[in-house]
Amino acid sequence: MHIRKNIKSICLLAVAAGVILLNSCAKKEDAFINRKVSFNTDWSFHLNDSIIDKDTIGSTTKWRKLDVPHDWSIEGNFDEKSPAGYGGGALNGGLGWYKKTFKVAAEDSTKVTSITFDGVYKNSEVWVNGHYLGKRPNGYIGFQYEISKYLNYGDKNNEIIVKVDNSKQPNSRWYSGSGIFRNVWIETTDKLHVAQWGTYVTTPKVIADTASVNIETTIQNQYSTSKKATVTTTIFYGIGNDLRRIKSTSQNITIGANTNQTSKQQIKVPNPVLWSVEKPELYTAVTEISLDDKIIDQYKTNFGIRDFKFDLNKGFILNGKQVKIKGVCLHHDLGPLGSAINTRAIERQLEIMKEMGVNGIRTSHNPPAPELLDLCDKMGFIVMDEAFDMWKQTKTKYDYGNDWDKWHKQDLIDQLLRDRNHASIFMWSIVNEIPEQWSETGVEIAKELAAITRQYDKTRPLTAGMNPPVNMNIDAVTLQFEKKDVSINPLAGSGVLDLIGYNYAHQTFEHHLKNFPNTPFIATETTSGLQTRGYYDAVSDTIKKWPVRWDLKFTEGNPGNTVSAYDQVQTPWGSTHEATWKIIKKHDFLAGMYVWTGFDYIGEPTPYEWPSVSSYFGIVDLAGFPKDVYYMYQSEWTDKTVLHIFPHWNWKAGQTVDVWAYYNKADEVELFVNGKSVGKRSKKGDDLHVMWRIPFEAGTLKAVSRKDGKVVLEKEIKTAGNPSQLKLTADRSTIKADKNDLSFITVDILDDKGTLAPNANNEINFSLKGNGKIVGVCSGDPVSHEPYKGTKHTALAGKCLVIVQSGDKSGRLELTAKANGLKQSTIVITAE
Ligand code: GAL
Repeated sequence: MHIRKNIKSICLLAVAAGVILLNSCAKKEDAFINRKVSFNTDWSFHLNDSIIDKDTIGSTTKWRKLDVPHDWSIEGNFDEKSPAGYGGGALNGGLGWYKKTFKVAAEDSTKVTSITFDGVYKNSEVWVNGHYLGKRPNGYIGFQYEISKYLNYGDKNNEIIVKVDNSKQPNSRWYSGSGIFRNVWIETTDKLHVAQWGTYVTTPKVIADTASVNIETTIQNQYSTSKKATVTTTIFYGIGNDLRRIKSTSQNITIGANTNQTSKQQIKVPNPVLWSVEKPELYTAVTEISLDDKIIDQYKTNFGIRDFKFDLNKGFILNGKQVKIKGVCLHHDLGPLGSAINTRAIERQLEIMKEMGVNGIRTSHNPPAPELLDLCDKMGFIVMDEAFDMWKQTKTKYDYGNDWDKWHKQDLIDQLLRDRNHASIFMWSIVNEIPEQWSETGVEIAKELAAITRQYDKTRPLTAGMNPPVNMNIDAVTLQFEKKDVSINPLAGSGVLDLIGYNYAHQTFEHHLKNFPNTPFIATETTSGLQTRGYYDAVSDTIKKWPVRWDLKFTEGNPGNTVSAYDQVQTPWGSTHEATWKIIKKHDFLAGMYVWTGFDYIGEPTPYEWPSVSSYFGIVDLAGFPKDVYYMYQSEWTDKTVLHIFPHWNWKAGQTVDVWAYYNKADEVELFVNGKSVGKRSKKGDDLHVMWRIPFEAGTLKAVSRKDGKVVLEKEIKTAGNPSQLKLTADRSTIKADKNDLSFITVDILDDKGTLAPNANNEINFSLKGNGKIVGVCSGDPVSHEPYKGTKHTALAGKCLVIVQSGDKSGRLELTAKANGLKQSTIVITAE
């Protein structure tokens, strides 16, 4: 599609010069044929009612112009009666229609044109110029349709219509979002081309001075005659811009009419630069197909060279070194942006995780947006790529279980083909917590999925999140262990899995080698601690198990549905944050863990029900503001010097307050109230924090950490006066003027001296001048029902977030925040 625009002049030179150009030393991104162009802009959208099927779309139907990725559910109001339930975020699904008119260049009529959707939630059906292309129930997998033969070329318009049916609810245990929520692409190639997801790059042998890189390329010949072609693969060091050529290899092939053929090549890379968590080095394999000495297709595959294994006794070994997996589970929503993907928003989430010391991401419980995997490749995360949250047996009435028989095979294969070149993926999870795990049916399904997975990728181990792998005889947990008389979960004991995936059950971790003497360990999901940012219960050293049991209505809890932000509230199947990490850190054979969850997400507001609508599990809240326990992990998982004290220092005179400190690189912390020492504390044994119980006295709380008597860090918290002013801080004050980029702006409510007012919950109004828009507002409050897409929002614990998106013109974006009785604030973002 309009490929003319995308073949840069240098590329035409490349075509003329045949394979020769690739043999030059360095290459720029735009030196390649861009066979894939974005198809995101200028869609029209219509929600619900009047249209029943595509033929009832009339000229009077009201359409709204928009660009995708788009999530219509996030635009709606929270609704207590929503069929999605509070578990689904109390936001409504429905039936959405998208259409778009477009032209295709006349010269493309001899080519192959395909449309790729990275994910449409859910039940999408697509028509081009009235021709039905197909249906895809699964919302999380990418799919492609070839549309060449239905297109009008030249000046005549084409029309694409997409029906998205997310009306049957509930179909998810969390907020799914609705619509074309990931990117859409048009791919235009010669009739002889690399097939969809057509390369498979592996590095079977990595030794210090050389790495063997195997490249399997599936080539598709859509000509009606057989073709003699050359497949050349060149490996470059680096990705994107400034590629440094390493080596090429060529192979001549003859490929029959209308067939696919796979070519196998090997290149030895001398002195490979290995991919690691700290230095995620990447390579690019460029595949070129030449016909009569002309390059007719170019296809790029990013990959990493790394050597790894999961060892029964030593855990995860990457490039010969033991690496503890310090991971988090993430759902796909992006807080106030909903499920419409935005690369910068994903990148920000990952940056916040990296800063805390996270080195692993589990894509719970579905294939993620491709952009997340690209970022994990580049930023250095150990990814567990998960396929499903259910098999045949449903967890919610209308979920994917209903589509299982017809679709699971194809969906799994597509995930594997799509994702298997990613350097960051180190294990496949074939499911999360399915009821079938307790029966032979589950073992049979696991065998089928394992066979498929191993057929498409033998380089990574296979696991599943089981709850739990071993019968624990703890009531709150055993209830989930349906066969109470067996000691080992049948799926865990079946021998099908390469890694025993523990969801929770930290009490059994230390017995892993006894229970599973031949299969390494991974904690697929842990913890499920609960917190509201900025709220603290009076007594912090009692542990609360909320809800009391997973299957009973929860009747306790705090007024206002808050949860204490001391690490003292956990689900009965989980643990506090400290408890699980203490065990994992102790033993080498415990390869690592994925905490539930890195970020809060919309839906599943355990332990509460409506009016709560978003989760309490996040180490970071829905707006992206860390809760206190973030710093426990940071003190343990990073090399940064940490001293974090909490809670805030605004209490009633004389009230007893527990003050906690997370710290590292020091042997003691001394706490002072208004200059007077209230004692030194040191962590003992496996302690991860220290605590003082002291009467509140307004003024300054100061902590000093020391090592061998020398001051390491000092931290102060002051008692705030009345809220008096707003302060705006942008994560980035210069963004790209590309209609996509985002600036995340934090609003702090301060007193007149500039101290954060920790209980301020003022309503803040936003306005923006310039070519851009406000695309999200959020405070991280799980009980808030204010729309995320509005321009006003109530702060939580003195903070709020507003997200500004650029337009397509460069210039100043001026954001103003106002609140009754507070001094307003303005910040300027430059779009360029
Ligand atoms: C797990 C489940 C997650 C989430 C979590 C909440 O059992 O796998 O999806 O529901 O519980 O604690």
